[in-house]
Amino acid sequence: MRVLGIETSCDETAVAIVEAPAGTAPVGRILANVIYRQIAEHRRFGGVVPEIAARAHLERLNGLVSEALSQAGTILGDLDGIAATGGPGLIGGVMVGIMTAKAMAFAQDKPFLAINHLEGHALSVRLSESVSFPYLLLLVSGGHCQLLTVRGPGEFTQHGTTIDDAAGECFDKSAKLLGFGFPGGPAIERAALGGDAERFDLPRPMWRRPGCDFSFSGLKTAMRFAVEKLPEKEPKTIADLCASFQKSVGDVLADRCANALAMAPSPILVVAGGVAANLYLRGRLEEVARSHDARLVAPPVALCTDNGAMIAWAGIERLRLHLSDALDFRPRPRWPLDPSAAAVRV
Ligand code: KG4
Ligand code: ZN
Repeated sequence: MRVLGIETSCDETAVAIVEAPAGTAPVGRILANVIYRQIAEHRRFGGVVPEIAARAHLERLNGLVSEALSQAGTILGDLDGIAATGGPGLIGGVMVGIMTAKAMAFAQDKPFLAINHLEGHALSVRLSESVSFPYLLLLVSGGHCQLLTVRGPGEFTQHGTTIDDAAGECFDKSAKLLGFGFPGGPAIERAALGGDAERFDLPRPMWRRPGCDFSFSGLKTAMRFAVEKLPEKEPKTIADLCASFQKSVGDVLADRCANALAMAPSPILVVAGGVAANLYLRGRLEEVARSHDARLVAPPVALCTDNGAMIAWAGIERLRLHLSDALDFRPRPRWPLDPSAAAVRV
């Protein structure tokens, strides 16, 4: 089974072709995975401008589809399905990806799959690791921070979510205060290496509270004050502050995961989403999994941030269940994984 996946929900234009055996065995093979990061387009605005993002997706997408097909040595007619992110995300970009996928699916008479971007992250671990359902998932990205039980495509139970900012957002805003570029997560991780995580006493919102919800706005504000009060901005001080910041985030994520593992025991804890690329945080989550007789499993670092392979893979998981979407699918700017969960985030 071969599926092409398109991701255009934020500032990455990404296309991949993934192949998998027809049965139910997890683990697929990436035949092509191409990505264009719209960094230059948004840099002077200090953040992603939705209209500019949509236009950049439109300019690049066709070229990337051709590049992916030639890298994979295949043609559209040999694919078994065409998948694209259908939301949640910036609606202009999602429309570009969805319209392109629909046109190809219609022209080639292939199944079309509209993928929830969060489901793409949630299932991405199974592209490279043999993990069976159900599993507990910590989904940490630039826009989301949630704990869920994943029972299969479209089958999620949410245990907690953020009441304000997402973890990645907190990394990005803190990085901006420190004058680092976007995205901030990798820059903070690099700067924290060798830093003294005990030097700055930063808050750990929700730490040791019942439940599995998150909050990061207090930590973000504390970082603003800490940066303003810095005696000097020499590299050692910055390293200490970044290490202290990462430790606070790690304490909170570990504490919330411990509660989730107690509430919804699972032998596997999966971490996915852009923030899962952080090796310090992975280490902290490994410890908490181990202390609950569970194992931490994560996608390879390169597949944690947005990519087309996770969308193609989610398409394969859905096709295996004979699921596909009609060509009148409407892009969804908001699309919760567990619609029955209380919408904490407004
Ligand atoms: O999943 P993703 O690519 O996009 C969304 O769906 O939001 O996640 C992007 C987020 C950004 O906030 C970025 O700063 C963060 O993931 N991120 C990291 C690291 N790499 C990316 N955060 C911490 N450490 C990293 N190494
Ligand atoms: Zn994402």
